[in-house]
Amino acid sequence: MTIQNNFSLKKYNTFGIEAKAKQFVAIHSVEDLKTILQEHQSEPKFILGGGSNMLLTQDIQALVIHIDLKGKKVLKEDDDYVWVESQAGENWHEFVLWTIDQNFGGLENMSLIPGNVGTTPVQNIGAYGTEIKDTFVSCDAMNIATQVMKTFTKENCHFGYRESVFKHEAKDQFIITSVIFKLTKRNHKINTSYGDITKELEKQNVVTPTLKDISNAVIAIRQSKLPDPKELGNSGSFFKNPIIPKTQYEKVHALHPEMPHYVVSETEVKVPAGWLIERAGFKGKRFGDAGIHKNQALVLVNYGNATGQEILAVSRDIQATILKEFGIAIEAEVNVI
Ligand code: EPU
Repeated sequence: MTIQNNFSLKKYNTFGIEAKAKQFVAIHSVEDLKTILQEHQSEPKFILGGGSNMLLTQDIQALVIHIDLKGKKVLKEDDDYVWVESQAGENWHEFVLWTIDQNFGGLENMSLIPGNVGTTPVQNIGAYGTEIKDTFVSCDAMNIATQVMKTFTKENCHFGYRESVFKHEAKDQFIITSVIFKLTKRNHKINTSYGDITKELEKQNVVTPTLKDISNAVIAIRQSKLPDPKELGNSGSFFKNPIIPKTQYEKVHALHPEMPHYVVSETEVKVPAGWLIERAGFKGKRFGDAGIHKNQALVLVNYGNATGQEILAVSRDIQATILKEFGIAIEAEVNVI
């Protein structure tokens, strides 16, 4: 384990923001994680996974611990299901492709989501009609203060839309080291409920889709709408889709009957922030090196040398405008550091 000083995090955050860590260490085993936490007990620490869901607006005056635990394996199986475990530092998309190659079903709709496996439970990642809570069994995590391992079952995680216990009661207290998923071996629950997937499969003349067909359709949709962080810095959806009271929705709907919406419950409706942002005129706009993506207004982008502060300023401008024009408060999905 080598601790490096004044370390650039540009390559460690998908926004590609230049920010420095006071100290940086990459961790390759649970034992090393325990040692580093014990040796640096009283110092400020910052845990870094794939860096795909954060906006760095300043240098980090702490020891940055980059979780780079690797390995994935089948734990057990029966005739219908397989239990697979991945270490936290595995790249999510590579893990998904590994499951599909073995004809294990359940993760295909979440192909090409940036980031590492260990951070997926934190915000219950999801796309195209599926969330990880649908296949999640448990995750192991180390308590930062005591270095004692704890298993969080699905019930313990309190999953919600882009929500979990790790954003609330357990926030900043644990480091997820591995995750277990239960996937199907046969009778796969193919989910084409999301309109874009059906359209994409029709385009490809696929009638009875396999897991690979779904994955390929999702990849094609994402590539057409969402920028590749390797080419254009971004953190996926910058905002959450707001969930508003039905009464408020009805008022906005009366003025904008064409606004898409999803009924969440009898009293709540979710509306797409991307639509609101596009309607407010921000889609494709550029302010210096910070901007709003041309194909998906929910995604803020770094054209090269934007600072985190510049991107943050754009996000605040968007929030204020949406509040003024629609009376709807939209909340960041990414962690602003
Ligand atoms: N829309 C617009 N303009 C835009 C973007 C979207 O009018 O610029 C409209 C679309 O036409 C559609 C609706 O908004 O009617 C929803 O758009 P889309 O299907 O692209 O999905 P989203 O709600 O904008 C969410 C997730 C994405 C995920 C997609 C697909 C959140 C915050 N985002 O986006 O997740 O890939 O659904 O399931 O829930 C991420 O979290 O980083 C992410 C990319």
